[in-house]
Amino acid sequence: MGREQWGTRAGFILAAVGSAIGLGNIWRFPYVAYENGGGAFFLPYLFALLTAGIPLLIMEFTIGQKYRGSAPLSYARINKKAEWIGWWQVLISFVISVYYAAIIAWAMSYSVFALNLSWGSDPEGFLFGDYLNLAAVPGQYGGLVPGVFIPAILVWAITLGVLFKGVKKGIEVANRIFIPLLVVVFLIIVLRALTLDGAVDGLNAFFKPSWDTILDPGVWVAAYGQIFFSLSIAFAIMITYASYLPKKSDISNNAFIAGFSNSGFELLAGIGVFACLGFMANAAGVGVGEVASAGVGLAFVVFPEIINTFPGFNGLFGFLFFGSLVLAGLSSLISIVETYVAATQEKFNITRAKAVTVFGGGAAIISIFVFSSGGGLYFLDAADYFINSFGVAFAGLVSVIAVSWFLRKLGPFQDHANELSDIRVGTWWKVCLGVITPLVLGWMMVQNIITNIQENYEGYSTGFLLGWGWGVAVGAIVLGILLSFTKWKEGQLEIPTDYNESKEVSK
Ligand code: ALA
Repeated sequence: MGREQWGTRAGFILAAVGSAIGLGNIWRFPYVAYENGGGAFFLPYLFALLTAGIPLLIMEFTIGQKYRGSAPLSYARINKKAEWIGWWQVLISFVISVYYAAIIAWAMSYSVFALNLSWGSDPEGFLFGDYLNLAAVPGQYGGLVPGVFIPAILVWAITLGVLFKGVKKGIEVANRIFIPLLVVVFLIIVLRALTLDGAVDGLNAFFKPSWDTILDPGVWVAAYGQIFFSLSIAFAIMITYASYLPKKSDISNNAFIAGFSNSGFELLAGIGVFACLGFMANAAGVGVGEVASAGVGLAFVVFPEIINTFPGFNGLFGFLFFGSLVLAGLSSLISIVETYVAATQEKFNITRAKAVTVFGGGAAIISIFVFSSGGGLYFLDAADYFINSFGVAFAGLVSVIAVSWFLRKLGPFQDHANELSDIRVGTWWKVCLGVITPLVLGWMMVQNIITNIQENYEGYSTGFLLGWGWGVAVGAIVLGILLSFTKWKEGQLEIPTDYNESKEVSK
């Protein structure tokens, strides 16, 4: 049997969109945009989307479709010396998967809590005290928390169950169910949000540009980070998913569809969330800035507060909101875990079932035991910040520089993509990847490293950050390099030519 393939073009697009739309769109984007200049953030955001996001997506789709392997195998097929980049990206995905699952587990619990508003009148105290049982000091383990442990098992059981079934019967089918359902649920939420009193104040706060932030490098790093995380690029996912494409399949048009659907959904999420914040500020008689808060807080503290104040059907609205986080999160988690299932399956020459059991199961155990603990939130916060800033964004930069400057593959990749696609990419694509992204992102990266050496992220202790922040980010690079020294099976570096011809429906 040859390599697994998607059943249809729509199946591939849904899976790519399902991977892209995730927790990053619903809770991350709204607060990142708000904190980085509101309306003024759209300029760096669009710049990053058009000069890095979509061009990189086209590059990753091309690599996967042409070389037909997981990220390490595809990079090794380009050049053995580039294999470590693939492993680095796979390891970044491994790290993200173990904490990402925990956030989905919280959302699962909260969709049940919503039904009878069991967070009570103090959602903040409830989250950190009653629910997460947060450890006193960052770095402390703090004991297992059953309320997280049980849904975390469920999250991993669903994810690994889908991956066991394979690409067409598992991943494709799951996305065909999750994504349309997510869109419907989310539209209901946004429409309801927009009709709340005060919604317009929230939207004004969200879109009002503060132009004085536009020259701040931190704002630009945030825009790149958001685009990469949100589009699932530079963490091995899109290469892996594109490796299951048939011989004749569109690349560039699919990348534009995935890129714009993701950003469209992101904007919708921002509008929905800020309309709700406007409502809440209005009800409390304060400014929107006083109710908006970052990250975890926005979804798990502010939303319960909003739901408490809701004019009717509170429980249902809460259930739909947290349910949409679960749906968006699961379809992304499936893609994140698939990167290392595919990579280990190929490298160690084992079956999909074995790769899912050993490596997926191993990740599940780490995830469940580390992040269902009282100290879990701190581990998650440090790992998330460092693996995104010095993992995803950095790996994106390195892959672009490697492909364009060292391997000099932009020309051949452009020809390959153009031969297959409706939309032809031209000089702009090469300039974006070969010049603009390396220079702009490279400069931002240096600035950001300096800032993080000078100041400890969130004021955490240096020891804690060396272990859970820098250690994790640097560990992914070192282990990636080590893994690239292990051998491939005889002949595996040749690109297979056995396509499942009857399935060439993707164009
Ligand atoms: N792309 C996924 C998200 O946005 C990882 O959450």
